[in-house]
Amino acid sequence: MALRQIVKIGDPALRKHARPVEKFGQRLHTLLDDMAQTMYDANGCGLAAPQVGILQRAVVIDMGGEDDHLVELVNPQIVSAEGEEESTEGCLSVPDRRGYVVRPVRVTVRAQNRCGMPIELTGEGMFARCICHELDHLDGRLYVDIMTREAEKGEEDAGEDA
Ligand code: NI
Repeated sequence: MALRQIVKIGDPALRKHARPVEKFGQRLHTLLDDMAQTMYDANGCGLAAPQVGILQRAVVIDMGGEDDHLVELVNPQIVSAEGEEESTEGCLSVPDRRGYVVRPVRVTVRAQNRCGMPIELTGEGMFARCICHELDHLDGRLYVDIMTREAEKGEEDAGEDA
């Protein structure tokens, strides 16, 4: 495993539409392993492949709760979303800023695991928020594009960036 460099806002990789993953071999496994290590090293709760300059539809998420663990989503698609909630979020590619974004309260996502097997999971609250944030990265969208307003320093919790 190796740390990868997280690209920052202004880098064109963050604005591209990522391609579907078609090969589920060692190259993908190494990418996912590196992404997880890079996310943990940056104290983030999520990371999408375009954030390390790789334009493929793969994300890692770890909300850090007792029962939670590392989630890898390859070719993810949100198949249902419920509710709306405005809260703050931040992004490892947009340092030192946080903003308020309206996101669904609950989302169900279908994806593939690192071996190409279909998976489906439902997330609520901050987990749902993180899923939406990461999937936006796959389509070249950043939270600052859709935030309702910038959070002032110390105004909101210091949640983890994604
Ligand atoms: Ni982000």
